[in-house]
Amino acid sequence: MYIIAGSTGTLGSAITEELSKTEDIFIIGRDEDKLKAQANKYNCNYQVLDLLSTPEPREYSKVIDSDVEIKGLVNCIGSILIKPLHGTSLEEFNDVITTNLFSSYFLLASFARRMKDGSAIFFSSVAGSKGLSNHEAISAAKAGIEGFARSAAATYAKDNLRVNVIAPSIMDSNMSQKILSSDTAREVSKNMHPISKIGDTDDILPVIKWLLSPDAKWVTGQTIHVDGGLSTVKPR
Ligand SMILES: NC(=O)c1ccc[n+]([C@@H]2O[C@H](COP(=O)([O-])OP(=O)(O)OC[C@H]3O[C@@H](n4cnc5c(N)ncnc54)[C@H](OP(=O)(O)O)[C@@H]3O)[C@@H](O)[C@H]2O)c1
Repeated sequence: MYIIAGSTGTLGSAITEELSKTEDIFIIGRDEDKLKAQANKYNCNYQVLDLLSTPEPREYSKVIDSDVEIKGLVNCIGSILIKPLHGTSLEEFNDVITTNLFSSYFLLASFARRMKDGSAIFFSSVAGSKGLSNHEAISAAKAGIEGFARSAAATYAKDNLRVNVIAPSIMDSNMSQKILSSDTAREVSKNMHPISKIGDTDDILPVIKWLLSPDAKWVTGQTIHVDGGLSTVKPR
């Protein structure tokens, strides 16, 4: 069984569709109507998750029967906030941390002990390692995810549970619709990448599938940057 959290988002929908072709999946999200529609389409079970009112992780793990082997967990729950620090309210800052970092803690804390020989994947972003202006809240959350995943990779290595992070740059998705709403913004976004392109799910899906597969059996504690080189490369 593979758990996909945030299955109703752009990346979540793509990995849900892909994995459901060959694997049993279990989907988690906040919107019951959308989850129900997906569960019908892909013939799978679902669970609503309210990040502001969660049970103890040990309790939550019971949403999947105890005899089911959990092979993978992909957390696609996330958000973006681009605002200068002094204009970021307490509520906005907390919301970004809850959606991105707390969701990652909560899901892995719930299922890690049941994921012997499994693979867990979390999402950072280019802002997790590169200082981009007006990204303080999301940068804190995503850098937190990278550290959290490295430590969890060490903790659960004895169970052969691999924990990795994918850090994309801007991709076409529900989340980036506003940012990429004009042709000018698209052009600027495209051109800031050494490999001049806006990302899409096709750039990320193969990396998710690889990290979930036995081909990546010796890869753990890593942050894999799928970002057209933005985080590390400066062409002449
Ligand atoms: N798109 C980009 O440019 C980009 C760049 C770098 C990193 N990322 C990361 O990639 C991951 C996937 O993002 P995406 O592009 O697929 O974005 P997306 O389409 O907006 O998906 C985000 C998912 O998170 C869920 N979500 C948001 N707030 C939530 C909350 N409070 N409680 C529960 N679920 C919540 C959404 O639920 P609903 O479907 O109900 O809205 C949706 O399923 C995220 O971690 C994101 O930070 C994205």
